[in-house]
Amino acid sequence: MATILVTGTAGFIGYHLALRLIADGHTVVGVDDLDPGTFGSLKAERHRRLLQAPGYTGVVQDLADVEATDALFATHRPDLVAHLAARTGVRASVEHPFRYERSNVLGTLAVLEAARRHGRPRVVYASSSSVYGDSTAMPWREDDRADSPVSLYAATKRAGELMATAYAATHGLCTVGLRFFTVYGPFGRPDMAVWTFAEAIASGEPVPLFDGGNMQRDFTFVEDVVEAVRAALFHPGFEGAGIFNVGAGAPQGLDTLLRLLEAAMGRPALRKLLPAQAGDVASTWADSSSLEAAVGFRPRVSLAEGVAAFARWFVDNPEIVQAVRAERAQPERPAR
Ligand SMILES: NC(=O)c1ccc[n+]([C@@H]2O[C@H](COP(=O)([O-])OP(=O)(O)OC[C@H]3O[C@@H](n4cnc5c(N)ncnc54)[C@H](O)[C@@H]3O)[C@@H](O)[C@H]2O)c1
Repeated sequence: MATILVTGTAGFIGYHLALRLIADGHTVVGVDDLDPGTFGSLKAERHRRLLQAPGYTGVVQDLADVEATDALFATHRPDLVAHLAARTGVRASVEHPFRYERSNVLGTLAVLEAARRHGRPRVVYASSSSVYGDSTAMPWREDDRADSPVSLYAATKRAGELMATAYAATHGLCTVGLRFFTVYGPFGRPDMAVWTFAEAIASGEPVPLFDGGNMQRDFTFVEDVVEAVRAALFHPGFEGAGIFNVGAGAPQGLDTLLRLLEAAMGRPALRKLLPAQAGDVASTWADSSSLEAAVGFRPRVSLAEGVAAFARWFVDNPEIVQAVRAERAQPERPAR
């Protein structure tokens, strides 16, 4: 059994990954800065639940504090690292560029440097489909160009990939980048369509359909993403730097997502058609065959199955949903 450092454990994917690794019997050290600026109630609740799990140590810390991150590695000496922490969301990165740069670039560099200095554990890190920009040559493959980002968020995720690749070349660190495609599932992100649509359906408010509902996303269920991270952590075959897509491989329109949610929640939605927003790309579509060839796994959960699982969780957790709703109604809190 390994000691695994997971960053971003109060976040959506990090929380699910930590739970799974604990269930597998590993020792998990989780770190998150619990930034209250974006849905702090949700992060606090995930953090609180993880602290109750045996075999879990939770550290509240800003990874961009380089000395503190070095000390974290010196203290826990992880065998493996899953670096998922980031400021997330394409749209907010337009408004808060320095916040994104600090977490996603400096924070990632601090993790890579600390890994180099303390035992050189394999670093599996989250990248994003956004690095492909608005390329229309689909499906996207890892060897496609990724040098025309259309948001600052995408630029920071690409910067993370380049730094990880440089650390592999310069220091022999094994780094595995996973480009996630629109991840959704229980306890997910309130800034993303699956949650905002469900919230609007439940409250009888109109569902905002940007770009008139024509946008397509390669929605990927969180359990599939957790499986991909586990495979990347433990697969014996990796050396140097690798980068893989992690996507279901089946782009679906937002109008399809809405229909599935209506069916799963047993309620009709009101629709509000809106123009596309800055930084949004029209479609995403992953070719995940490289991941399958490398580790023998590719995402499998259909959108209908995943949406049904999300809707069950959403209906069964009214306190969490209500706390998020209350937070949404408040003016934005200053974030670090
Ligand atoms: N959810 C998706 O659809 C998606 C798609 C592509 C890529 N990703 C990537 O996957 C990773 C996880 O995403 P998520 O959906 O769980 O996001 P999330 O926002 O729910 O979780 C990210 C967590 O990182 C923490 N964090 C941010 N900056 C930090 C810092 N400086 N120090 C410590 N903790 C910090 C946040 O507090 C948050 O809890 C991110 O790297 C994201 O860029 C996610």
